[in-house]
Amino acid sequence: MIRIDCFWRDLLSHLEKDRSWRSVFVAGPVDSGKSTLCRFLGEHFAVRFSTAAIDCDPGQSILGPPATLALAWEPRKSEVPLAMRFIGSNTPSGHFLQALTSMKRLSERAFEEGAQKIVFDSCGYPVTAAGREFFYQTLDLLEPDHLVALQQIDEMEPLLATFTRRNKPRLHRLPISEEVIRRSRTERRAYRQQKFKRYFKNAKRQMLPLEGMGLHGMIPALKNPQSWDHCLVALCDRKGFAVAIGVLEKVEMHESRLWIHAPPFDRNQIASVQFGSLRVDHRSGEEL
Ligand SMILES: Nc1ncnc2c1ncn2[C@@H]1O[C@H](COP(=O)(O)OP(=O)(O)O)[C@@H](O)[C@H]1O
Ligand SMILES: [Mg+2]
Repeated sequence: MIRIDCFWRDLLSHLEKDRSWRSVFVAGPVDSGKSTLCRFLGEHFAVRFSTAAIDCDPGQSILGPPATLALAWEPRKSEVPLAMRFIGSNTPSGHFLQALTSMKRLSERAFEEGAQKIVFDSCGYPVTAAGREFFYQTLDLLEPDHLVALQQIDEMEPLLATFTRRNKPRLHRLPISEEVIRRSRTERRAYRQQKFKRYFKNAKRQMLPLEGMGLHGMIPALKNPQSWDHCLVALCDRKGFAVAIGVLEKVEMHESRLWIHAPPFDRNQIASVQFGSLRVDHRSGEEL
């Protein structure tokens, strides 16, 4: 059971008063209840508005498999997202560009599809200088109308300071709920494994001709076939959205084709192959 405390109710009444808001971004440390709050907000506003959820956590992802960011309508009827972008890793660290572009493209897509409100769920921000800058650049680019910061004491303040003098976003500081259940590293890994396993449940060995197709992302060394082994890749459409993700078996450069294990997809939709930096066993879902 989700506990809805008075702080959540206060937040709702602020959002209700602002009739023109279009997006809210929920930030906070790892295990601070971000996803739970996002779901609550999403379901609440979906009663009266076309409300989209954008899952910006490539690790403990709720929509879509790990290593992706995804868009879905609220209330969520299934785990299959409306659109998906590939980051290539279970953390934005080392993949900041892919994460930044993905969040922007998914929000554009949501508005194109008719979203009146967007709720952005985020990953626990990396506590490094680069992580802090990533957070800053993310909010600068997305320009959410409201920013909700969950914090125990004041751990989000260094990040919030850069926005306190701006007109947008409006800041809301919320304490972390006592009901939050923390997850260990092992539990997080096991969660990702289950998500991958479920995603690859119907995977088939498939051949993809590379003729006229671009490769991008963390492309492994071409000369070393071992570096391609079990590499997680995305098969992207003409707009860069991931139609499917797959695990690479081999690349046959002379024949200009590759073999992957992926859920069935329409080859005609694929315009490029994006490489990630994770290796995954598609049968067990385990990260290698
Ligand atoms: N208000 C709440 N009431 C009950 N359980 C909660 C609440 N907030 C979080 N939890 C639980 O705590 C765990 C972590 O919450 P989650 O929203 O996934 O955090 P985050 O997205 O910040 O990692 C989940 O199991 C969730 O069900
Ligand atoms: Mg979460």
